[in-house]
Amino acid sequence: MQTNKNFKRTLITAALPYANGGVHIGHLAGVYVPADIYARYLRLRGRETLFVCGSDEHGVPITIRARREGITPQDVVDRYHKEIKESFAEFGISFDIYSRTTSDEHRRTATEFFRKLYEKGEFTEQESEQYYDPEAQTFLADRYITGECPHCHNEGAYGDQCEKCGKDLSPTELINPRSTISGATPELRRTKHWYLPLDKAQPWLEKWITEEHADWRPNVFGQCKSWFDMGLQPRAVTRDLDWGIPVPVEGAEGKVMYVWFDAPIGYISNTRELLPDTWDTTWWKNPDTRLVHFIGKDNIVFHCIVFPAMLKAEGSYILPDNVPSNEFLNLEDDKISTSRNWAVWLSEYLRELPGKQDVLRYVLTANAPETKDNNFTWKDFQARNNNELVAVYGNFVNRALVLTHKYFDGKVPAPAALSDEDRRTIEEFKDVKMQVENLLERFRFRDAQKEAMNLARIGNKYLADSEPWKLIKTDPTRVRTILYIALQLVANLSVAFEPFLPFSSKKLRNIIGLPSADWERLGSTDLLPAEHQLGTPELLFEKIEDSVVEAQVQKLLAAKAANEAAARKAEPQKKDVAFDEWEKLDIRVGTVLECERVPKADKLLRFLIDDGQQKRTIVSGIAQHYAPEALVGKQVCFLANLPARKLRGIESQGMILSAEDFRTGALRVITPADSVSAGSAVK
Ligand code: 2FM
Ligand code: ZN
Repeated sequence: MQTNKNFKRTLITAALPYANGGVHIGHLAGVYVPADIYARYLRLRGRETLFVCGSDEHGVPITIRARREGITPQDVVDRYHKEIKESFAEFGISFDIYSRTTSDEHRRTATEFFRKLYEKGEFTEQESEQYYDPEAQTFLADRYITGECPHCHNEGAYGDQCEKCGKDLSPTELINPRSTISGATPELRRTKHWYLPLDKAQPWLEKWITEEHADWRPNVFGQCKSWFDMGLQPRAVTRDLDWGIPVPVEGAEGKVMYVWFDAPIGYISNTRELLPDTWDTTWWKNPDTRLVHFIGKDNIVFHCIVFPAMLKAEGSYILPDNVPSNEFLNLEDDKISTSRNWAVWLSEYLRELPGKQDVLRYVLTANAPETKDNNFTWKDFQARNNNELVAVYGNFVNRALVLTHKYFDGKVPAPAALSDEDRRTIEEFKDVKMQVENLLERFRFRDAQKEAMNLARIGNKYLADSEPWKLIKTDPTRVRTILYIALQLVANLSVAFEPFLPFSSKKLRNIIGLPSADWERLGSTDLLPAEHQLGTPELLFEKIEDSVVEAQVQKLLAAKAANEAAARKAEPQKKDVAFDEWEKLDIRVGTVLECERVPKADKLLRFLIDDGQQKRTIVSGIAQHYAPEALVGKQVCFLANLPARKLRGIESQGMILSAEDFRTGALRVITPADSVSAGSAVK
């Protein structure tokens, strides 16, 4: 049991993202931004730290995507691994390594791990009946089976869940199950799998968490408790699938490790890839190392129960000391959804708002879903940038720098005697280090960032109250002191924000000529010595205009509209008609001779048609779907024997036939595939 709390170093892991799509703001806010702040903070404090991550490249959804796109699973993960890795790097997530679970090192490590548990007798073996596709000759993962939900009768429920009513399902509950691979009706066949007996691990797990880790966040602790209350069940750690790490034991041909078995081992293999000599002795097998997993709330059970049970069963590894998990971030008041494309994708953000990494980092931390689900809106993004980063932080820095350049040629002035106000101001910020540290040590990133921002608020108030621009004429000595203190605040800001906003902190330090962020001196009043030459002021943050955020909102709305359209279904067929009824309709092909808009009628076009016998006028309500000139010369189908009627004073002698796209509502005229003589009947 791990009791040593005097850790010498910290091993930080961030959940391995599936290489099945990009990374979005929900992932960033929940996992990667807080993990990065924490890693940067520990490094700044001079603590030995390792921050590991990588792509999670196994699992059924990857095979489904590959099948859908007609490519291999390896193609899928190659594409997304590259995109995710590059986006993280550009966003300033400071992993020491970002590797992948298709690496040789990972396969080796996961294989050794599985084999050790197998040899120690830590698994149980069980046969069960599972669905098999007789046409595709393969067992079917739950996601590969669809059918009718027994609860809400949605016809497209999956074998593990109904997305309509949200209920968890098992494949055998589905009514009329079908294989999504071949469409065949699956049959139950016996198959053997290896299980991790979590039921046996429950006593020690429960003791370990409740007695030693009651300090975990309430959401994490609470979820663990409720799993314990339900009673842990053995968990299958193998699957009948052809994508994953082969199960390295006899009799397991064609089986791979369950993705949730191999993925957390990725933390170990990635460390091993980076530090082949010390990954174990210094890190994973050293009780002086503190292991901290940053994850989203859907990963709690795997990191607090399943992975610790695996590590313990193996026997030589440390267990996590903390598992800071966030709740979810919503987007514009709706759940983020990859399948509905209701998301802000990191790679797109970086492309469309270049150079604004810190703005997103700031907003996601300010809105971090630490204790409850939270919401991201583009309006709030703009407001936080314009009203906080620009108006508070940027404004203060700029004022202090510009005034120093104006009055003292950009040299830090030497202070004279301090006034009460100076002393009060210094008093207000001297404890910033302790405050930020206290909060970060407790994983309270939102409040910690607020403390950093507070330095700028203190600075703005100080300048506004002391009004150096007025005093310069009457009391320049006083102005020296005021600007000296203001500049110390500026320098402190560049240090305090370093874990949160690394790009702006670096930029600011370059401007003021502070060589490095010395965390130990945070809160001091001598970060910049008198006579130190400052560089030329530059704006740290830029205002974000309405048009920028409106374009982002429009993009989301377009995604929503596309989704709604994709979800629409063709109308059910109408009641049968007698053949002689149908024969009464006289549908002909005509050639459009003229086509123009009907004045003062948005929707109407006037056609002049060659109907094979004469010219006939037809008025049709498709003006919003066609430019009239595009139709001239085309052949169209029209109902010829509809009694004439007047539309906007024009006698319409028939009806042009169009198809209405049930997804988009677009009207498209019906034309024969090949040209026919005008007047030909449609049969
Ligand atoms: O939920 C997810 O995105 C998983 N890919 C997280 C895996 S974390 C770890 F165990 F690898
Ligand atoms: Zn349902």
